[in-house]
Amino acid sequence: MKSVITFSLFAAALMLGATAAHADGNAAAGMKKATACFACHGKDGEAIAPNYPRLAGQYQNYMEQALHEYKSGQRNNAIMKGMAAPLSEQDIKDITAYFSSLPSQLSTLKYHIQGANEMGASN
Ligand code: HEC
Repeated sequence: MKSVITFSLFAAALMLGATAAHADGNAAAGMKKATACFACHGKDGEAIAPNYPRLAGQYQNYMEQALHEYKSGQRNNAIMKGMAAPLSEQDIKDITAYFSSLPSQLSTLKYHIQGANEMGASN
């Protein structure tokens, strides 16, 4: 009997783990909810200026965590605190699913990677 309980707990822990690792969200809904974000981060997630972080292709879990931290004040940024404050858990999942689904433009790193030069290192 004890082993059955142990096994159930183990299975439950596995399922919890799977949920945490795979954050869900609806990217299409997220695109609509993210309109206010585009002013700085861009509709394509590429940011309108270098002082705004790129969100395109960023890990969804990372962005969810960041938004929670802006909400709580653990990450201290006046702009993002205001932007994150009204977001519900579902909004956060959907919006981060959207930005995460966008192709990231690593080609902008061209010539900025050690060893890359104008002649070589195609990217
Ligand atoms: C007025 C400009 C502006 C708007 C609008 C804006 N942000 Fe930001 N965002 C910033 C700035 C500036 C930072 C960097 C703050 C810092 O230094 O922590 C940031 C950081 C972030 C980060 C963390 C990125 C990282 O690489 O750590 C996320 C995620 C994010 N914003 C999501 C959003 C979402 C979602 C919205 C819309 C609800 C939004 N932002 C709207 C300016 C903006």
